[in-house]
Amino acid sequence: MVPLEFEQVEAIRDHDELVEFLCNDEWPFHGRRVLAPDDVAAMEFSSADVATYWIVDRHRPHRQVVGLVRLLDMSDIGEGAPLFDLRIAGRHRGCGLGTLATRWVVDHLFSAYPEMHRIEANTRDDNVAMQRVLSTAGFTREGRLREAWGSDDGRWFDTMIYGILRTDWASTGASSSQSPV
Ligand SMILES: CC(C)(COP(=O)(O)OP(=O)(O)OC[C@H]1O[C@@H](n2cnc3c(N)ncnc32)[C@H](O)[C@@H]1OP(=O)(O)O)[C@@H](O)C(=O)NCCC(=O)NCCS
Repeated sequence: MVPLEFEQVEAIRDHDELVEFLCNDEWPFHGRRVLAPDDVAAMEFSSADVATYWIVDRHRPHRQVVGLVRLLDMSDIGEGAPLFDLRIAGRHRGCGLGTLATRWVVDHLFSAYPEMHRIEANTRDDNVAMQRVLSTAGFTREGRLREAWGSDDGRWFDTMIYGILRTDWASTGASSSQSPV
């Protein structure tokens, strides 16, 4: 059994927990490495365009949040392709959770939205872990945007573009075996 649960975030109810999760860790491959409460207040978590989920380790005796995933561009479903922003808490990185969470995102989106044709993912070209996660979860590397990813220290990085089609997902057999939350 997959040891993770995905609980939908409600931005107002969960505001304090979002601030605690996002501001007490570092996000070295995001535009902002460190977030302040005002940054969190400016982020979108639940709307027509964005759905966010806590990633919870269900094997612990007490509820333990190990990550957060935001599904973006949801209003594009049917015409475009949603993106997602995955963040595993620092002390839980490198344990396979990012791979499990990405598989869940793919299963959840293709199952919940039969009209959805593809999912996209962008990552910085030096984010090796995220690129490994995407390959393992069935995404194909489709391109590179030169110096398209700005960093808060003034540096520019290339953006790697990944995508997965419904047909890619169906060919793995995941479409008949998954059970989205
Ligand atoms: C990127 C991230 C989601 C990956 O999730 P994770 O749980 O740490 O990764 P996993 O344990 O599932 O490991 C996936 C692969 O990456 C490799 N990996 C993990 N950490 C690594 C690191 N720091 N450097 C290089 N490779 C790494 C693992 O060995 C594994 O490789 P394999 O599939 O060949 O065995 C997570 O590290 C994270 O949240 N980082 C900060 C936020 C971020 O960068 N999000 C992505 C934004 S696009």
